Amino acid sequence: MDKSTFTKPIGKNQLTPITSPWMHQFMENSGLINELVEKYGSPINLHYIPSFRKNFIKYQEVFKDFGIEGQIYFARKANKSKILVKSAIESGIGVDTASYKELEQALALNGSGENLVLTAAIKNEDLMQLAIDNQIPIVIDNLDELQLANKVAGDLNQTAIIGLRMSGFQVGGQKLYSRFGFDIEKDLYNLKVWFSDRTTFANLNLIGFHFHLDGYSIEERAEATMQCLEVIQQFRQIGHSIQFLDIGGGILMNYLESRSEWLSFQNNLKDAVLGNGKPITFGNNGLGFSLNNRSEIQGKLNTYPYYNEVNGADFLSRVLSYKNTEGTTVAELVTTANIQLRIEPGRSLLKQVGLTVAKVAHRKRDASGNWLVGLEMNMSQLKSSSADYLLDPFLVYRSHKEEPELAEVYFTGAYCLEQDVLLKRKLAFPRLPSRGDYVIFVNTAGYMMHFYETEAHLFELSQNLYMDQDAEILEMEHVFNDSDLAMD
Ligand SMILES: Cc1ncc(COP(=O)(O)O)c(C=O)c1O
Repeated sequence: MDKSTFTKPIGKNQLTPITSPWMHQFMENSGLINELVEKYGSPINLHYIPSFRKNFIKYQEVFKDFGIEGQIYFARKANKSKILVKSAIESGIGVDTASYKELEQALALNGSGENLVLTAAIKNEDLMQLAIDNQIPIVIDNLDELQLANKVAGDLNQTAIIGLRMSGFQVGGQKLYSRFGFDIEKDLYNLKVWFSDRTTFANLNLIGFHFHLDGYSIEERAEATMQCLEVIQQFRQIGHSIQFLDIGGGILMNYLESRSEWLSFQNNLKDAVLGNGKPITFGNNGLGFSLNNRSEIQGKLNTYPYYNEVNGADFLSRVLSYKNTEGTTVAELVTTANIQLRIEPGRSLLKQVGLTVAKVAHRKRDASGNWLVGLEMNMSQLKSSSADYLLDPFLVYRSHKEEPELAEVYFTGAYCLEQDVLLKRKLAFPRLPSRGDYVIFVNTAGYMMHFYETEAHLFELSQNLYMDQDAEILEMEHVFNDSDLAMD
């Protein structure tokens, strides 16, 4: 096998992503990349399952270190691949499901009431039935859902196992707004009335409490945990055997190698928006920064915070070691409460798990002289919920040219929209890619590859492939298609 050359952007606006040996081996193997794209089309998503396992083991170690009975529920909404659900269940962790199909698939992959939870934002009667029939704990968001679960359980002559989602926590003198859940202040009285007798919701068995917070604050998660533990005590006092507190996801992940690159990129972006020097983004997009009417910078970077020194297991440890005003830690309070602490990480369990490969279709210069490199993929196949995916992609050159010549490019996609510019950043490569070269976007498994993927223009959805063993053996025969995965 000839090793192919792959390179990332050079120059002053680099955002070097953290990568893994398996990614390097893959990018060195243009023969394999070519075979895969020939077989499955472009783009393809590749998942490396050993990294997924490594990630949840780290969280299990944290629980062990703190002596806490913890359980992990992989928030499957972050990635559609069935193999992740299968691997989670086979390895003894749980799966958080958020729709009928997610729950149905997880059940078909041997999930059960022991390892699944339903947290869907919208729950209709069919979904309630599926959950209750299979005795899957349902995290209830509002009174209508309580009534529906109670009715459906009654119709099925069963008991629905439920948790209550809470929100509206007070942190640092401010109330955290959320559209989800019961308000911990306004709704608590009613909840206690409804659950103080066994007749209002005769078919419900309340066994847990839940929250999931927007944003990535350690303090907010710790404060919310402590406030829920107090509520749990009150519900235990009125006779409910509360077994778990689920504190949701939102554990920060780190994507980037370098703090200085992260900071200097933001400074350079602000400079460009101010009009100092050439734009570094398409159309001088400020990604959240803009000019006020005095021509000063306003706003803040509106992307995922890609660089995080405290992330993953450290982030969880910080939540658990956070102290209340008496100096007692969250971990101690959880232990005293004798309760199972659940987390629902999505993105952070997919750290170093996936990459997306796309084939170069064309190169052109636009009227402003920018190089536009068209890829066989579209903007929905690499889309962040925020302003941009801010990691340097890699180029796999398939041809060897003697004289490299720096090329500053934007990658563009297949949708008929001016805005289908795959990354907003201008990227400087040692030479212009050719048709048939490949672009590799790394660390895309958490939300980026799937969450917004659409089939506009009737483009096929991308194929999801996976490898489930060591990176030493990166060959076609070790790459499987997720859609072929058999379900029991
Ligand atoms: C209820 C719930 N749990 C877990 C998650 C996963 O969050 P993350 O991927 O940030 O860990 C989400 C994400 O939206 C969620 O809504």
